[in-house]
Amino acid sequence: MKPPVPVAVFASGGGTNLQALLDHEEMSEIYRVAVVISDREDARALDRARTAGRDALVISVKDRSQGELGDEVLRLLRDRGVEVIALAGYLKLIPPAVVAAYPRRILNIHPALLPAFGGKGMYGERVHQAVLAEGTKVTGATVHYVDEEYDTGTIVAQWPVPVLPGDDVQGVAARVLKVEHRLYPAVVDHLCGAVAEGKDPGPFTLTAVDSGFDSHD
Ligand code: GRF
Repeated sequence: MKPPVPVAVFASGGGTNLQALLDHEEMSEIYRVAVVISDREDARALDRARTAGRDALVISVKDRSQGELGDEVLRLLRDRGVEVIALAGYLKLIPPAVVAAYPRRILNIHPALLPAFGGKGMYGERVHQAVLAEGTKVTGATVHYVDEEYDTGTIVAQWPVPVLPGDDVQGVAARVLKVEHRLYPAVVDHLCGAVAEGKDPGPFTLTAVDSGFDSHD
């Protein structure tokens, strides 16, 4: 059996997706969260990382050039042998040097069906507010590769979630988040499994994770 692929998770907030990745890791053994990086000292994700015994680092982006940031991030990723990066509620752009150093090795999860309801400023409750304001009947979660813009990289996986009559923002958010927690670890497994084998990951299929799963449970 190959050693687990070292993964860096970037998070700015609560870190429930980080938690899902940590929980799944114990069963999968395909990847290991080697380090968690946040732009905010108060991110709950950092506590989750420390509780799990992982490195938890704050890298402030304030008053720093993308060049400086890129150098620092790359150094610490390389020190830890990181091969894959998973953004989990990280609200800043990834410096271009990091994007260039990790082609098709950086994932993000977004709480809508991209390319709809994505882009700069479209995060958190704003996404679900926009979905409800539009009267959209189906929303969902998207995992995509990360490029130098917000939410524009190639889509790897999507999982649709119904918007029900009478739904409010919290209701839609909770239903989508539940799906995210199932989808993200599966996609990280898929990519890391391929990285470990030195292969192209090929298409991700949802059937492996959605059978018997009900987002209403
Ligand atoms: C998730 O909805 C994710 O899709 C988005 O940010 C949120 C992060 O939530 N990118 P959490 O911090 O993982 O709980």
